Amino acid sequence: MCGIVAYIGPKDATPFLLEGLARLEYRGYDSAGVAVTGRTGGLKVRKVKGRVADLAAVVPARFKGTTGIGHTRWATHGVPSDANAHPHLDDAERIAVVHNGIIENADELRARLTEEGAVFRSETDTEVLAHLISAHATEGVELEEAVRAALGKVVGTYGIAVLDAEQPDRIVVARNGSPIVLGIGEKEMFAASDVSALVRYTRQVVHLEDGELATVRADGFRTFTEDARTTHRQPSTVDWDIDSYDTGGYEHFLLKEIHEQPGSVERTLSGRLDERFATAHLGGLNLDARELREIRRVKILGCGSAYYAGEMGAQLIEELSRIPAHSEPASEFRYRNPVIEADTLYVAVSQSGETYDTLAAVQEIKRKGGRVLGVVNTVGSAIARECDGGIYLHAGPEVSVASTKAFTSTVVAFALLALHFGRIHDLSPADGRRIVAGLRALPDQIREILAQSDGIAELAAEYAESEGMMFIGRVRGYPVAREGAQKLKEISYVHAEAYPASELKHGPLALISPELPTVALVPDDELLDKNLTTLGEIKARSGRVVAVAHRRPEAKLADHCILVPKSEPELDPLLLNIPLQLLAYHAAVALKRDVDRPRNLAKSVTVE
Ligand code: AGP
Repeated sequence: MCGIVAYIGPKDATPFLLEGLARLEYRGYDSAGVAVTGRTGGLKVRKVKGRVADLAAVVPARFKGTTGIGHTRWATHGVPSDANAHPHLDDAERIAVVHNGIIENADELRARLTEEGAVFRSETDTEVLAHLISAHATEGVELEEAVRAALGKVVGTYGIAVLDAEQPDRIVVARNGSPIVLGIGEKEMFAASDVSALVRYTRQVVHLEDGELATVRADGFRTFTEDARTTHRQPSTVDWDIDSYDTGGYEHFLLKEIHEQPGSVERTLSGRLDERFATAHLGGLNLDARELREIRRVKILGCGSAYYAGEMGAQLIEELSRIPAHSEPASEFRYRNPVIEADTLYVAVSQSGETYDTLAAVQEIKRKGGRVLGVVNTVGSAIARECDGGIYLHAGPEVSVASTKAFTSTVVAFALLALHFGRIHDLSPADGRRIVAGLRALPDQIREILAQSDGIAELAAEYAESEGMMFIGRVRGYPVAREGAQKLKEISYVHAEAYPASELKHGPLALISPELPTVALVPDDELLDKNLTTLGEIKARSGRVVAVAHRRPEAKLADHCILVPKSEPELDPLLLNIPLQLLAYHAAVALKRDVDRPRNLAKSVTVE
């Protein structure tokens, strides 16, 4: 949600800022801006409503400085406009601020600053910070002191970078609820809200903690707390590859990420399957078998697709270990004063590891003494650090706003967890071996499905203009239907509804018509006959049906069929979901949507 970049060093900052912003654009893309300064003093600022390319088009060749900050925005306070784009400045145009997050007491601060004479030029909460820092940046006061004093008056969440034209030898950054990462170069330093902006320049990074600030100079950095205590942070090495941030010959990141799934699933499984004991090794859980046996329930929390992946995870845990498990949107859980039980294991799911609602849920559980594991893709992210242990996905960076490979890896991680739990409880060695073999076979089976991409594209083109689509599935198939509907609406803007197939006759059957086709998940399992009956009910009402199935249903029950290879019944949902990703992708392409940057959305939602 919004992207921040900053540079200080001997070179011209502008090319890095523009390039870094383009890499962060998936986080927010309704306006963008940059500010630079240098030895000659004064601030140069450009900001526009629109994409980073629109910004680059208005940045003149003479726009140079050795110290600079940049921002790409996803609007929360005020419409997308030139005026509301960051950086925001104080009246003297000496201080420039870029900000991710929300200042909750912005109205109160704005009123007070206006009384003191500040003139506001935007509707944003961020502009408050520029005036507030400026008010503290009096003669002889170091920028870090002014920023620290200003933040002491602020209630809310922030990741910020601050530039002072009178102290061009430093940038001050701060984090509270919104990530900031420092990048260490050769006699130059970088900062960003996300490592993806940095990996082309350095692999040595420092993730700031909440409540931490840093003064960043060309030759190094100093970190300190809000009450001015110096902290000592050791850099870590980012192992994600720069290639992950390019489309690699694919038309979109989304298509590339869908096609990366055989490899990303292999990485999630790597070193974790144990044939001898027919179980999974999960070193990061920080819970031994005895502690795991005391767990009576599992509660999974995530938002959006992470929540749906959690629903698949809950199903796997119940089936394989017979421990009751349930998934709930973290965004709801955190607001309902949840009962936290000592014998419940809480599991937070997040690709980015930065989703604010999920982080807040984790903090609420921990505050009440609960135990939380994280299923997270981004190493060192806020949620990963907050949890007591967990499973990293190792899916690699996911750039496209819609989650695909991280979704699949999350479900694979849950399969590993469920297998591990199951084998500690009553899952037999034979069943354990069956699941281990099923997991090993997944990458090749995913390849088989991906090979059908062209056929699915033809189908998507045929259905893309429909007034909406229904997605149905029973029990294991229902979370697959929910994720399929989510993916379609997210990137194609075609209205999509997911229902348990069993519920159709209790209401939504009234919607069925030739204009509202149904995507039906029809695995060859114990519920096959029930699902076929539902298809008959839809066809009897002139509905059109696309079946995603292991065996082609009779022609009178489905207009089209996408065949997927059969796995073990518990793992089938993983494979049934892959064609739905391709269907959504190709529908979005057919409708000429901005596939990687769907309207109104951002990759990680780091605000409430
Ligand atoms: C997925 O396609 C969506 N963009 C969205 O629902 C996402 O899964 C959700 O915002 C959670 O993100 P996270 O996994 O980074 O926490």
